[in-house]
Amino acid sequence: MPHSNIYQLILSRRTIRRFQQKEIPGETLSELVQAARLAPSGSNLQPLTSIIVNRKELLPEVFFTTRWAGYITPKGTPSPEERPTAYIVVLINRNIRAAGGYHDSGAAMMSMILAAWEKGIGSCWIGSVEREQLAALLAIPAHFEIDCVLALGYPAEQPVVEDYSGSVEYWKDETGVLHVPKRKLKDILHWNGF
Ligand SMILES: Cc1cc2nc3c(=O)[nH]c(=O)nc-3n(C[C@H](O)[C@H](O)[C@H](O)COP(=O)(O)O)c2cc1C
Repeated sequence: MPHSNIYQLILSRRTIRRFQQKEIPGETLSELVQAARLAPSGSNLQPLTSIIVNRKELLPEVFFTTRWAGYITPKGTPSPEERPTAYIVVLINRNIRAAGGYHDSGAAMMSMILAAWEKGIGSCWIGSVEREQLAALLAIPAHFEIDCVLALGYPAEQPVVEDYSGSVEYWKDETGVLHVPKRKLKDILHWNGF
């Protein structure tokens, strides 16, 4: 994954759902939350808090609260030897911000995703989470809303981007490579008015 600059890094990023079983150093994981900490925040309220999960016994329990690659179930769900080796659970503190905050968490997630990618670490943004189960597992106080989970690990796949041609559904080819359709620039870009 050679990235000459941040633009190339952004273009090359793909969601990763198959991971090498090699640990991510704790310090690296905390650097990702550092990137989240300094992300933009509406009214600078900073309502976000993160939980890093990297303890081996906890990993399967967190995994079972997450849902993977809905368009290609079960082919997109990592097998036990390809699962994430860490998670970052992003919470919104409802005592700091009573409602909303999802743009904040989106910005924080993207900062973490790109900071990880630059270090050769792949990730999957998981919005489909069994929140009650995860809150109980991690003893999360009631005034925190679980927004989403970032699943992390060194990549064991290289998905490829395709031009959209009628469907947004990603697919796996016969060799197991994931293809991800994206709408073309000319179809989503307007200059100086619609
Ligand atoms: C808000 C949000 C929620 C997502 N939730 C899930 C999820 O629950 N499970 C999953 O496997 N992927 C999830 N994804 C990843 C998307 O499926 C992925 O970004 C999309 O297929 C495009 O692929 P790309 O990230 O490689 O561009 C989510 C992405 C976003 C932005």
